[in-house]
Order: sequence, then C-alpha cells, then structure tokens
Amino acid sequence: MKDIKRDILSGLFIAGTNNSACIVDTVLQVSSTTPALISVCINKNNYTNEMIKKNKQFTISILSKKVNGEIIKTFGFNSSKDIDKFSNYDYIETHNMKILKDVIGYMVLELVDVIDTKTHDIFIGRIIEDKRFNNEEPISYQYYQEHKEEFIKVKTENKKTAWICTICSYVYYGDELPLDFKCPVCGANANAFEKK
Ligand SMILES: Cc1cc2nc3c(=O)[nH]c(=O)nc-3n(C[C@H](O)[C@H](O)[C@H](O)COP(=O)(O)O)c2cc1C
Repeated sequence: MKDIKRDILSGLFIAGTNNSACIVDTVLQVSSTTPALISVCINKNNYTNEMIKKNKQFTISILSKKVNGEIIKTFGFNSSKDIDKFSNYDYIETHNMKILKDVIGYMVLELVDVIDTKTHDIFIGRIIEDKRFNNEEPISYQYYQEHKEEFIKVKTENKKTAWICTICSYVYYGDELPLDFKCPVCGANANAFEKK
C-alpha cells in the first residue's frame, strides 16, 4: 500500500522572491485574518530560501492542471543560482519580483516569521497584494504525482536508463544508479528511485 503521507492533500505552486523562484507543494493558509497569513516550507539548500531571508518578501503563484510541464522542470529541477528561470516565459513584475503569466493567480507577501526546522524553514507571510488571472482548476500535488510522466515527459537519452525520484520526480540518467546516490533536489536516497 502506498505511503500514508501521500494522502495529505496539497497543491502545486511557485514560491518566488527577487531573483529566485522554485516549485513547492507546501503552501498553507495559516489564518484567514485580514490580511491572511500564508506559510511555505522551503529547504535550506534552495537558493529561494536564502533569497527570501534576504529580501523579506516573497510571492506564491498557484499552478493549474494545464501547467506546461516545462515550467515544472525549469522551476523544480534547476537552481536560480545557475539559470534565469523566467527567460523563456512571459511574466509580469510586481514589488521587484517576477510572476509567470501562465498561472491561475498570485499573492505577494511580506515576511512576518521564520520557523527553523533544521533542514527546512517555514516562512510565514502576510498578503499585501493578490491577483487572479483566470479560473482554471488548480493542480494538486497528488494529481501531479499520478501524471508526472506526462508532465515531465521522461525520455531516455543516448539509450541510457532513466531513474525517477518517486518523491520529487528528478530524473537521473545512467545504466546503474550508485547505491549511495542522493537526489540533488529533495535529498531522497537511492531506494526512492524507480527505474524507467
Ligand atoms: C513537484 C515538486 C515539489 C517540490 N516541493 C518543494 C517544497 O515544497 N519545498 C522545497 O524546498 N522544494 C520543493 N521542490 C524542490 C525545488 O523546487 C527545487 O529544489 C528547486 O530546484 C530549487 O530551486 P532554487 O535553488 O532556485 O530555489 C519541489 C520540486 C518539485 C518538482
């Protein structure tokens, strides 16, 4: 039977700040006060974590079921340290931060608290701006997991075997997956990978 944690329902989002953005599935509404408080949990190894602490503001964009899989690959499998993730997509700018146009809508938040959980930080923000672009259906993390091969279209390169991380969908190409391999995106170890 599948891991019980897979039944904790969540959505799929882009968390961004000045010069950095990444895919997240850990967004929650903390309170429905006015303005509402929203939290997101981000790994300390991600550049977006470092940049949110520096900039004290961040954005959360909500992805739809029609999301282009390239967006998931660009924002979820690369670091903003290495590439400009927005360079191939249309975006708007607000509060000096970029927002993809191909999302349902977004929130701009000012950072009010950070909870340190050793490997991750939970950032809590107060909404200072929000906008809806369309009424598309939001994608859930579970829907993404069930359809991830369509989203990320795993192709074997140079006849090499592809190994997919069952936690975050990162793909490793190579005939053998080293036993001590750790997923560079989510840190899962080799036994979390499935051979394609
Ligand atoms: C489906 C999916 C969900 C993810 N959820 C999270 C998350 O909730 N928190 C997180 O820190 N990283 C999450 N990631 C991983 C980051 O998106 C990834 O490490 C990204 O490359 C970090 O980019 P950055 O260095 O530009 O911040 C997720 C990735 C995918 C594909």
